[in-house]
Amino acid sequence: KPQIFSGVQPTGNLHLGNYLGALRKFVALQDQMDCIYCVVDLHSITAQLVHDDLKSQTRSITAAYLASGIDPVKHIVFNQSAVPQHAELAWIFNCVARIGWMNRMTQFKDKAGKDRENASLGLLAYPSLMAADILVYRATHVPVGDDQKQHLELTRDIAMKFNLDFAKKIKEIGKGVDITVGDQPVHAFFPMVEPLIEGPAPRVMSLKDGSKKMSKSDPSDLSRINLTDDADTVARKIRKAKTDPDALPSEVDGLKGRPEADNLVGIFAALSDRTKADVLSEYGGQQFSQFKPALAELAVNVLSPVNAEMRRLIDDPAHIDAVLKDGSERAGAIAEKTMKDVHEIVGLL
Ligand code: TYM
Repeated sequence: KPQIFSGVQPTGNLHLGNYLGALRKFVALQDQMDCIYCVVDLHSITAQLVHDDLKSQTRSITAAYLASGIDPVKHIVFNQSAVPQHAELAWIFNCVARIGWMNRMTQFKDKAGKDRENASLGLLAYPSLMAADILVYRATHVPVGDDQKQHLELTRDIAMKFNLDFAKKIKEIGKGVDITVGDQPVHAFFPMVEPLIEGPAPRVMSLKDGSKKMSKSDPSDLSRINLTDDADTVARKIRKAKTDPDALPSEVDGLKGRPEADNLVGIFAALSDRTKADVLSEYGGQQFSQFKPALAELAVNVLSPVNAEMRRLIDDPAHIDAVLKDGSERAGAIAEKTMKDVHEIVGLL
């Protein structure tokens, strides 16, 4: 049975990239599958240990989940640190994963910068905790933006090595299933997770530079649309977004070599649940002076209600905390079962 898991870090404001790459997909998946959505607070202390407002950031991401339309009763919404099995399984995965695998992660290289020896050990082991987040629920599908692809490949590598290293024990306790990976038969305890990345905006780019991804850490606030921006700010940022001087093409092929145009068309498509081809069939031939106001109107229409609901929820922290507590208890019950089997498989007395 497919099981969805995904997470968002409670660091900095959420932006349109997080909304289109993650939240909007989370909401869409709820109708067909069981979903577990986590606020990954333990990941937030890997790059920066001391935060003044980690609790309020955690509540704010939870508010964004709920305001986007995630149903915390039918599905599970919780914060990572409230289910200690994540950290416990991460430790075991630290012993499964190889240092070389971690050293190859582009996100680690980016975040650690030049002084790698001085990065936290947690930043290096970050993907191991991420694998634990997913696999402690034996989740099969993970909706994320394109930037998380490499981490999900590593999650598969960890699951594969665990399954192979403990193959005999997994058979013995009768908790595995027979799968084939490539053409290799494997008796698997942990599934091979599938990333769900597709869609018209898997990687939302900066509004100021079509070659850089939209990010919380970009010093220019004009480079991103924050979920907390008011309608005027959203419209102004779109008006000021970098573009080239040409009209929009009528076909997707015409977006090649035009990263800023491609980005804005992708954003339009994702916000309206259309394809880029469909958007271009309507706006092809038009100038950005016509397209940008249409995009601004659409963005405001979609984001304003989310923004308003987020504000309302943030004013009621007791409600948010109750949602997280309930979610943590339900998530914890599943995680506990997995860890019981893991203890048996590894041989922990
Ligand atoms: P985080 O908190 O950086 O980002 C949350 C989600 O937003 C997506 N995203 C984007 N999508 C499109 N365009 C962009 N410019 C953009 N920027 C961010 C991210 O891909 C992500 O889906 N490591 C994860 C959190 C995590 C996790 C997990 C995710 C921890 N454990 C288990 C899935 C499963 C992260 O740092 O996301």
